[in-house]
Amino acid sequence: MADPNLLVGFDTSDDAAVYRVDEHTALIQTVDFFPPMVDDPYLFGQVAAANALSDVYAMGGTPKLAMNLLCFPSDLLSKEDVLAILRGGADKAREAGAVLCGGHTIEDREPKYGLCVTGFVHPDRVLTNAAAQTGDALILTKPLGSGILSTAAKAGLLPEHQVDLLMATMTTLNAAAAKAMEKYTVHACTDITGFGLIGHATEMARGSGKTIRLFADRLPLMEGVLQQAQDGIVPGGAYRNREYLSRTTEIGPAVSTALSDICFDPQTSGGLLISLPMPEAERLLHDLLPNCPQAAIIGQVEEQLNKHIILE
Ligand code: CO
Ligand code: CO
Ligand code: CO
Repeated sequence: MADPNLLVGFDTSDDAAVYRVDEHTALIQTVDFFPPMVDDPYLFGQVAAANALSDVYAMGGTPKLAMNLLCFPSDLLSKEDVLAILRGGADKAREAGAVLCGGHTIEDREPKYGLCVTGFVHPDRVLTNAAAQTGDALILTKPLGSGILSTAAKAGLLPEHQVDLLMATMTTLNAAAAKAMEKYTVHACTDITGFGLIGHATEMARGSGKTIRLFADRLPLMEGVLQQAQDGIVPGGAYRNREYLSRTTEIGPAVSTALSDICFDPQTSGGLLISLPMPEAERLLHDLLPNCPQAAIIGQVEEQLNKHIILE
């Protein structure tokens, strides 16, 4: 039988599990790890940690404890590189105010790193992805394009300053965005990661029993991403997301293939997608801009139509 204290499980594809400890405290638990998307081991550690910590912020919580998960080929990866990955993760955990308290390492042919993170939230303040309401505006706090630009960077196709911007975006914690939304009547929140903007928006729409309309001309994009997408530098994951989501997504005739590719692009350590009443959205956006300069209102929540997502 289901434990009534499990406030959020895996049935709504939410960001993390949430378990009520008592009337004041709920525990948030999440785990995320993946192979390197950048060559620099210290940056990889930071990106992987920022990505894992993000799921706690997406539930409205504060990260408190973190544990390393590390897989690496000891004959191929130097000790310095391993330590650099761990240092990247530890630095991000510290920045988030979480304590790194251990972990587990195994031998593996392909390196992988991430964190298991525990956070806390008041049980009345849990932000699921399943309670968006008709009339809500949707805010996205980071620009899109990390999958496409990581692919371009790996192929040596990205100018150095665009690589730097990409790294800066992926290593930025969603902490400031989460802090900013505390003052508002947020109905639903999730973060944009491997399922892409449309995938995670679909989970929100489906969980909430709504349709989400996305405004193609208001999407914040990383510098250079439109050009790379037009040149066909699109990772396989974006095509898999498009394929999986095609039945429930309507894309307007004015939206270019490149732009829709960006909307299906798997993101690493992407921004928060926040659903809140339209009148409050402008004020939250104003509060977000100092720390999230590309944050934007990118869509709205409507009564459920025959598609979960309309991109136009
Ligand atoms: Co998530
Ligand atoms: Co996750
Ligand atoms: Co959430």
